[in-house]
Formats: sequence, C-alpha cells, structure tokens
Amino acid sequence: MLEVKTDPVSPKTELGPNTVRLTFLPSGQSVEFEAGKLPYQEHGKPQSILDVAINFGVHLEHACGGNCACTTCHVVVKKGKELLSELTEEEADRLDTAADLQLNSRLGCQAIIEKPGEVVVEIPSWNRNYICEGGASTL
Ligand code: FES
Repeated sequence: MLEVKTDPVSPKTELGPNTVRLTFLPSGQSVEFEAGKLPYQEHGKPQSILDVAINFGVHLEHACGGNCACTTCHVVVKKGKELLSELTEEEADRLDTAADLQLNSRLGCQAIIEKPGEVVVEIPSWNRNYICEGGASTL
C-alpha cells in the first residue's frame, strides 16, 4: 500500500517538479505521487481522483465502479482545478443529478489529475454520512 499522510497541520514540504499532492478534506489525508507513475486500479479513469484514492487506500465511495453512472464519488475541488481534466458533457449530465451540487463539484472517477501540483478536494458531508452508515470509511 502506498503511503498516506494523516497530519494536516504539519508544514508541507515543497513538491518536486513532477509530483502531485492530493488532499482529502475534511480528514486532511494527503497522498503524493509522481505524475503518470501510479498503477491503474481498474476503477474510474486512470489517474482520476478515484484511481489515486484507491491506490493509497483512501476510501472514496464508487457505487458504479467508476463508470460515470452514479454520483457517490462526488467531490468538491477546493484547490487545483486547473490541474484537472475538463468537465465532459457526460460528467456534467451525471453531476446534475448529484445532491449538494456546487460550482466546483466533480466526479472523482472522471476528474483526471493531468498536471503535477497540489489538488485539494472535499468529500461532501452527505457522502461522508453515507460512508459512515456503510461502516467502510476511515475518514
Ligand atoms: Fe459512479 Fe463515479 S463512481 S460516477
């Protein structure tokens, strides 16, 4: 399993030129990796937020298996949206059905981290509650 950093208050080290740091709120769990080097985990698009989460064992719900057919992987991008793939029409249509849709909402399985840098996403509270009820979350 790849390393997850769980201390959100520690000073952040500088990122290497090809490094991605992805942080999940509200837990503050951070993961870092070299762009383009993660093994694909067969759920969502390669190097999507969901794919990265699975690589590091961070729980992000994905009821449809990452096929843009539900909204359980809904995240709100707080930082680094310019590093992500463009919203596709298919993703936008699916997001329209999401609870608590916000301006920077994305589907974790569809939003690909295309460039190195810092990305911060928040898992909406309704989704966290859903996860807690399912008993599968470490967030
Ligand atoms: Fe179903 Fe992303 S996991 S839309």
